[in-house]
Amino acid sequence: MKRILGLSAILLGFAVAGHSQSPKELATPTARYLDGSAGADWPGYGRSFGEQHYSPLAQINDSNVGTLGLLWSADLPTRNSVTQPIAVDGVIFLTTGLSFVHAIDAKTGRQLWTYDPQVARAAGLKLRGGWGARGLAWWKGKLYVGTQDGRLIAIDANSGKQVWSVQTTEEGKVEFVTGAPRVFDGKVIVGFGGADLDLVRGYVTTYDAETGKQLWRFYTVPGDPAVDNDETTKLAAGSWAGEWWKFGGGGTVWNAMTYDPETDTIFLGTGNGVPWNHKARSKGEGDNLFLCSIVALDGKTGRYKWHYQINPGESWDYNAAMDMPLATIEIDGKPRKVIMQAPKNGFYYVIDRITGKLISAEPWTKVTWASKIDLATGRPVENPAARYPDGSTFILYPRTAHSIQPMAYSPASGLAYIPTLIAADGWSDSGVANDEWRKTSPLSTGQFAAVRNPFAVKDDPDNGTSKLVAWDPRTQKQAWEQKTPGPFAGGTMATAGNLVFQGRLDGRFNAYDAKSGKLLWSFDAKAPVVASPLSYTVGGRQYVTVTTGIGLSAAIRGDLLKDVDTDYRTQKRRVLTFAIGGKMALPDGRAAKPAPVDDPDYRADDAQAARGVAVYNRRCAQCHGIAGQAGGIAPDLRASPIPLSAEAYLQVTHGGALLAAGMPKFDDLSEADLLDVRHYIRSRAAAWRAAGK
Ligand code: HEC
Repeated sequence: MKRILGLSAILLGFAVAGHSQSPKELATPTARYLDGSAGADWPGYGRSFGEQHYSPLAQINDSNVGTLGLLWSADLPTRNSVTQPIAVDGVIFLTTGLSFVHAIDAKTGRQLWTYDPQVARAAGLKLRGGWGARGLAWWKGKLYVGTQDGRLIAIDANSGKQVWSVQTTEEGKVEFVTGAPRVFDGKVIVGFGGADLDLVRGYVTTYDAETGKQLWRFYTVPGDPAVDNDETTKLAAGSWAGEWWKFGGGGTVWNAMTYDPETDTIFLGTGNGVPWNHKARSKGEGDNLFLCSIVALDGKTGRYKWHYQINPGESWDYNAAMDMPLATIEIDGKPRKVIMQAPKNGFYYVIDRITGKLISAEPWTKVTWASKIDLATGRPVENPAARYPDGSTFILYPRTAHSIQPMAYSPASGLAYIPTLIAADGWSDSGVANDEWRKTSPLSTGQFAAVRNPFAVKDDPDNGTSKLVAWDPRTQKQAWEQKTPGPFAGGTMATAGNLVFQGRLDGRFNAYDAKSGKLLWSFDAKAPVVASPLSYTVGGRQYVTVTTGIGLSAAIRGDLLKDVDTDYRTQKRRVLTFAIGGKMALPDGRAAKPAPVDDPDYRADDAQAARGVAVYNRRCAQCHGIAGQAGGIAPDLRASPIPLSAEAYLQVTHGGALLAAGMPKFDDLSEADLLDVRHYIRSRAAAWRAAGK
């Protein structure tokens, strides 16, 4: 009898062991994405359209999580594995590095297929972003992934074969897709990043999920009003001054998008302005719509519905690009349909998602740029010093209170779980003459017109630390917090089992009591865990999966990572899957830490090293780490034998010898420039050797 039942369940083609998800519920792809679904799948970035990073599963819960154990581990052949996997019908799909897509049997960890979109060959300049693909989406048997060179690709989920591919970015611009595409109502929507590296104008585009045919495009900032007559230019050009369109304006949608199926509304979280400095970008005038905003569009047509701008006249590389969960929460005794965001700027925003009106906003961490958000106008009450006037330096808190690692929201506990970063920057535009500003930004290749100096902050022991904050959006008060090691905190997932899962830089993967914050379970992943976890069922059994590794934003301050192991060359990148009763012991897989090379031919030349550091900071630091101290996503150059030989070094840096492995080709720099950088690298290695003696 039992066998026959099992067989009929298989014939019906749904979860075998009597899980509560009915065949009807699985009949449409939409049903799998609904907040109210039973949670057998995790089909898109934040699981549901509303992206709560919340699983309604409760087999693993606060009373049995102590028996949660590793079921399997699979090595990922990559250095860049900070990604949000998805799971559909017992198969895990995840991206690594340059948009490789892997399909893995969730029960066994067996690799089913890998898809390689051959990004390194195509990407050229666009490789410089270096973030790696952070997610993908599923719809009706197809997967959707973006690439660093700006393609959107549909892949058959069974075979791993490409179905269609479109170029969604413009030629010749450093515009890259590292965020997860989103899918709703048969459409796939994708934005891109690049407004820190090039003069770009943000937009999102939707395509027919079956065919790849373009449906609509929405620009997030206006173009030149003399030639452009798109909707945004008509709506928003009045909020800009000067000739902003020559700079592109920025406002890219590189991460956050959520969808409300009830009203067919797609919400975009837009990015920073380019250049960063409002004075250079727009003569210091105007709000600069729709930078740094949550923008609501009609799903069918892409027509504008409303917007809420969190930073009018943005001037600090702030953005509204962090995830935006939808929820229904009770405020003043009434259920309100809200969209919420905890962006970089440190305020937690609760917004009515039907009208776009701000309900409340309070700082959840230290903030110096504004004293409050005025609820009557919805605008911040800014600190006048915050816009670094008259050559002054302003100490801006926070730099990035919340990065791309998602916060979870649990409708069960009513709390949001925010991976919170505590860091500040000194901001100034002193000495940044108008024609000089392209060359002077200290940290990247960007077009910033401002000097942002993380070392200007003194005497704050909390600077460069992190914590997990449980925040109550109804009361705008903290429920609890847990300090986390190092400058960066992993993405969170909440479950109906009253649990919050989060990884840490020191390799612990933890589960906390969602209501009290008490630590209930901890696993040594033997590598940092920055990515956010997911949960789903296979054959009715609940699993939890997470990848190990460190991402670019977490790795840039190698100097703050001295106490933790993060190097991709000395420890493995993995996908780990847990279940109740899992017993596997995780092999160590760690190799010796890098040490500085011995370079007998090195002769210090301070002038050359000084020229080299300027180029290094603009072009190399984002991957190889500030001050030559790597954080784990690219080799520590002080320990590399390659700079020992000028010829080998130039083959790599100028000739592109390691392009396929993600090391860009810097053929726009002269060999002399690159040799100055080489000298700087050797000087850093010598300093390290000397310090070690
Ligand atoms: C987008 C990220 C990125 C940027 C920017 C970048 N690199 Fe790299 N680099 C890498 C990666 C990844 C590797 C390792 C490739 C591999 O695994 O073989 C690498 C390898 C190298 C190596 C070889 C090291 C070794 O031991 O194998 C050298 C030398 C190097 N980079 C120099 C530079 C210099 C100089 C700059 C700036 C002009 C720079 N890189 C900018 C990502 C980057």
